Amino acid sequence: MQVFQLISEVKTYLSLQKQQHKTIGFVPTMGALHQGHISLINESKKVCDITVCSIFVNPTQFNNANDLTRYPRTPEVDIQLLEQAGCDVLYMPDVKDVYPTTDTRQFNFGYLDTILEAEHRPGHYNGVGQVVSILLTGIEPNKAFFGSKDYQQVMIVKALVKQLKLPVEIISCPILREDDGLAMSSRNMLLTPEERKIAKLVPIMMEEARDIAKQIGVSAAKSYIHNEVVKVPIMKLDYYEVCDTETLEPLTALKPNQQAISLIAVFVGNIRLIDNWMID
Ligand code: PAJ
Repeated sequence: MQVFQLISEVKTYLSLQKQQHKTIGFVPTMGALHQGHISLINESKKVCDITVCSIFVNPTQFNNANDLTRYPRTPEVDIQLLEQAGCDVLYMPDVKDVYPTTDTRQFNFGYLDTILEAEHRPGHYNGVGQVVSILLTGIEPNKAFFGSKDYQQVMIVKALVKQLKLPVEIISCPILREDDGLAMSSRNMLLTPEERKIAKLVPIMMEEARDIAKQIGVSAAKSYIHNEVVKVPIMKLDYYEVCDTETLEPLTALKPNQQAISLIAVFVGNIRLIDNWMID
């Protein structure tokens, strides 16, 4: 695997590949890699000739300084995992290479940037928009791969690519879970063993709430989640919503043929976890 710290080096390397008509797949990450990230590398390798991964903990998408400082960083292990997965190129820049000057762009993602994660993490998606646009413009991949664990992020990235008319296909990939159902996340490694045991309740509650939403209704599912979370002293609910899969508008009732998704953000101790389950 080629490891570069400068986008100029990545561009030089990729221009040779592009001259040979190789297709480029791109997987942006913030590192502390796990099998969820690796599943995106695998998807890219299936359909593209060259797979590029980036590891960059993007400061502009953190609306909480503490969260940025304690974000896990495991570069040696990350490189090993990517080598094993057969990733071709790793771009691991420092802040100056991504932001030679301060990025003052303000995106307008409309309604999408007012709800759920956007409501609870103001400015987060503007930062995601900044870094993803810089990375996509620098690397110019044919396809870029994102996890549906961050369902709203995928929608934001699709809106960004449309607004900026970037010639890249955004591909949404399934959520990878631990054996006990917890969605894989870099933040899981910040959980204490006790918190980790509690965290496995999240998928259990989500599955049960999905069944309640289908059998009784959305408000019963919401009450169930609120009541279950309150029972656990170290858990605190940020939001639980049932939304339309296309617009993310909150639903109060499920209509026949309506595609719905339930989305949750919950603190376990100080660690904020997100997850989503389709209501099929
Ligand atoms: P990060 O949280 O490192 O995630 C990188 C990619 O991995 C995202 O597309 C995310 O949805 C995906 N991912 C995370 N956990 C996953 C899981 N359990 N199963 C499948 N995919 C999973 O998301 C970001 O970084 C950043 O916001 C970024 C897009 C890199 C911009 O800074």
